Amino acid sequence: MTEHKTVLKGLEGVYVTESGVSLIDTENGALYYAGYDLRELVEHSSFEEVMFLLIHKRLPLRQEFSEFRELIRRSMELEPIHIEAIHRYARIVDVLTLLVILISLKGTGRQGGDPRDVNSAVDIVAKMGSFLSTIVRIKEGGDYVPPRSDFSYAENLLNMMNGGNYEDEHVEILDDLLIIHADHGISASTFAALVAASTLSDMYSSVAAAILALKGPLHGGASEASYEQALNIGDPAKVPAWLEATLSQKKKVMGFGHRVYKIYDPRAVVLKEIIAKYLDRMDGKVRLVYEITKALEDYGQKYLAPRGIFPNLDLWTPILYRMIGLPSDTFTALFAVSRSAGWTAHILEYWRDNRLIRPLHLYVGEYPRKYIPMELRGDS
Ligand code: SDX
Repeated sequence: MTEHKTVLKGLEGVYVTESGVSLIDTENGALYYAGYDLRELVEHSSFEEVMFLLIHKRLPLRQEFSEFRELIRRSMELEPIHIEAIHRYARIVDVLTLLVILISLKGTGRQGGDPRDVNSAVDIVAKMGSFLSTIVRIKEGGDYVPPRSDFSYAENLLNMMNGGNYEDEHVEILDDLLIIHADHGISASTFAALVAASTLSDMYSSVAAAILALKGPLHGGASEASYEQALNIGDPAKVPAWLEATLSQKKKVMGFGHRVYKIYDPRAVVLKEIIAKYLDRMDGKVRLVYEITKALEDYGQKYLAPRGIFPNLDLWTPILYRMIGLPSDTFTALFAVSRSAGWTAHILEYWRDNRLIRPLHLYVGEYPRKYIPMELRGDS
């Protein structure tokens, strides 16, 4: 009797590994990084401390944290080859593609598999931030600004991007955004990183694989897509008709829905609370995007919530990204900068008990089939 084989398309509901990096509590609408509630980390922690927490699964002691932060800052320095590559490509390829080029340059000649290689994990996250900031700066006609030893990771990103032209409150907002995006279990991009790492490819190349997976509009690309969506709607009053038309054409509303959450994404709840603090300081265009987003959330309750489709973080992040002056073609890249902390933490964890990831497929074609020479095939 042939054994019954079930195909679980998209690995939906399949546990592919054990991990202590983060917990998505879908029952209570909460996210924990190594057991610490995201809300507490946004309020009291920093992105550098969250990097340490995801890798080591504990909070750092004072002395080791200052050494860890020093390592991050030193690693943020860019080498001439990177600065030259950014000058060469910044205006001819998109930001994510350039991040892949730059991070792959660092992967040259490396081997993977060492679960103790924390220095590479730190180097990757540090370089990703400097790469993004320097790309933005050079695209806008500026030149490389080195990281400062007295600045946090978030403040260095803004300073390297804008050469000192930013508000103090933008540092706090960026640090919150970096913490909120740092990890989210085995998302598609994290899985891509693990598939590459499980072959013992190096960590840099595995992160390059993850960046390319993050790019799609069903995943990290949704942040830029949801911003474009709001600009295309253009007026909160047009949301009901737009939503009805979109859903009747079976199109997806960007910033809504999630494979794991069938409730309001707890990260989106935190983002809304942060946005509420700055409502009176938004310029006209950002305020319009906020009003359109609010209308989408309100009408989404009516049209989508009954189907278990709720707002996710990508509905709200564009408002904060634009508030701190991030160009609209860099939202997914900033997501990648932050998530490189989660990707590298998962890679180190997986390498502790590495297993090549190689699933099966159920063959549904005919076989064996007899080869027919071309001269006997005719033309129709
Ligand atoms: C992220 O995995 C992670 O953790 C990802 C992430 C992270 O931090 O790493 O959280 C980040 O990627 C968030 C998601 C960002 N993507 C978007 O906002 C794009 C829009 N969302 C959808 O494409 C969708 O919701 C997914 C891809 C996110 C999840 O889709 P699933 O789980 O594959 O569900 P599905 O596509 O099978 O949808 C089930 C039904 C379908 O309708 P029917 O065919 O049954 O009639 O719900 C509908 C879908 O059409 N649906 C939507 C919808 N999402 C699902 N309909 C309209 N708009 C949507 N957004």
